Amino acid sequence: MGGDLPPRGSFATLTDADVARFRSILESTPGDVARAVLTDEKSLADANEDWTRAYRGRSRVLLLPRTTSQVAAIVRHCNDRNLAVVPQGGNTGLVGGGVPVHDEVVLGMKRMRSVVSIDPSAGVVVAEAGVVLDDLETALNREGMTVPLDLGAKGKCQIGGNVSTNAGGLRLLRHGSLHGSVLGVEVVLASGEVLNLLKTLRKDNTGYDLKQLFIGAEGTLGVVTKVALLAPRKPRRVDVTFAAAPSFSAAVETLVAAKTELSESLQAFEFLDRASLELVCAQMKGARDPLPGSEAPFYVVMETSGSAERAAEERARLDRFLADAKTRGRVVDGVVGADAKHAAALWNLRERISLALKHAGAVYKYDLSLPTARMYELVEVMRERVASAAAAAAAGAAGAFDFSRVSVLGYGHLGDGNLHLNISSPDGYDARLERIIEPHVYEWTASVDGSVSAEHGVGAMKPNEVSRSKPAAAIELMRAIKDVFDPKGILNPYKVLPPRARL
Ligand code: FAD
Ligand code: MLT
Ligand code: ZN
Repeated sequence: MGGDLPPRGSFATLTDADVARFRSILESTPGDVARAVLTDEKSLADANEDWTRAYRGRSRVLLLPRTTSQVAAIVRHCNDRNLAVVPQGGNTGLVGGGVPVHDEVVLGMKRMRSVVSIDPSAGVVVAEAGVVLDDLETALNREGMTVPLDLGAKGKCQIGGNVSTNAGGLRLLRHGSLHGSVLGVEVVLASGEVLNLLKTLRKDNTGYDLKQLFIGAEGTLGVVTKVALLAPRKPRRVDVTFAAAPSFSAAVETLVAAKTELSESLQAFEFLDRASLELVCAQMKGARDPLPGSEAPFYVVMETSGSAERAAEERARLDRFLADAKTRGRVVDGVVGADAKHAAALWNLRERISLALKHAGAVYKYDLSLPTARMYELVEVMRERVASAAAAAAAGAAGAFDFSRVSVLGYGHLGDGNLHLNISSPDGYDARLERIIEPHVYEWTASVDGSVSAEHGVGAMKPNEVSRSKPAAAIELMRAIKDVFDPKGILNPYKVLPPRARL
């Protein structure tokens, strides 16, 4: 997956002297250096391979700094020596952005995991980049606050990685994107200079808003070391509703009705198709269809927030919403989580699809922004293409790839117009299957004026596709920005920007 490797850039190769220099930078406390400069096989195997196991580099060193000044000294050394560097967070990215393509130095952030401050009156948290999203949530919950971001990878992804990918997730509908929630960042630039943009102010109109450049830069412009984030109050209670829709357009109508009728309390509105539900139930222990008998082609998962005191009223409001949706034919059945455990089980059916896909074999993952009403057409188009290939293969030579074992699944953030198209192949990645999918999936997306990356980023997977979603002039400006921040191109090379010849 990801096509041919781009050729290695003209970077220096790691030497023993470099490793010795890293040791001297990181040996701030006795014994620390053994945990901070890692060259053993196991650590490197983990650092070199991404979550999907589709991308694998061959770095020879993993560095785990504890402080911003250590990050600065490492990056300064790499810049002086012309060594390429990959910043790595929780390594849950889905586009190969956080692992080396060749032999880049891996700069892991997991030991920078302090929550620096929480200000309940301003509703702001400042955290080091390596704080795991779930840990940040737990720290904020103690103060009655919450992170304005939630994703299935929360147990492993880091806030620095989330900011660097501009992660969307399950509650973007409620809280908006990180471009709105991030108030400030501290960043180590390629030169080793520390750029302190760590403001905690809600308003700051003093010219260009430079922090925005680092949100979604995927480690190509600097290493994010601290983040200041708006942290709203945690809702006293939430309800989760799971409903079966007779068609995709009925699911979209349910979204519109939810926005109208439940407006201020709507936190998330997600969808999955029947193939996704069946896969989760088959692969994940304890998962089961909550609406057996409905056999619907689509399901929606909706989260609403409310007050602890009015639980019964809010429950009744959701029951009325479901009853009305049934009467109008928007849903055929539905259930509201009876308690926290039941609500979590309903959410899991949506959140665990990625994990179920990983268990099922190789998966071609596409994360697309599309016009909401037409989002599912692409899933159907891809199913037809795979079915035609299966028919042709059945009629043709023995030994052909068995397309009949391939499944095409659609799920995603319906409230944000974000489709996750996944093509699951129990028989591994295969160039014949890839040719059925690409470039058609990107051409179709461009034809409806969509985006080839809604929330996962570009990484190593899509630099050659960026031009389908951005004009050449915008890509040239991105290049110019990259040249200002990282003139030698040492920070996460081969990612995000298309190779020059492609323009
Ligand atoms: P990594 O994967 O380590 O890195 C991602 C990119 O950010 C890389 O380019 C890396 O170089 C860069 N980077 C990481 N840390 C830094 C730093 N401190 N400074 C500079 N650059 C850095 N994504 C969504 O948007 N929405 C979802 O709903 C969602 N759900 C997911 C569910 C599952 C089960 C999984 C496995 C992934 C999911 N993702 C989702 C993708 C992924 O979790 C996000 O992209 C996440 O933000 C990555 O964070 P990370 O810390 O793991 O970063
Ligand atoms: C999700 O929404 O589940 C994530 O973005 C992960 C995925 O696309 O599989
Ligand atoms: Zn997603």
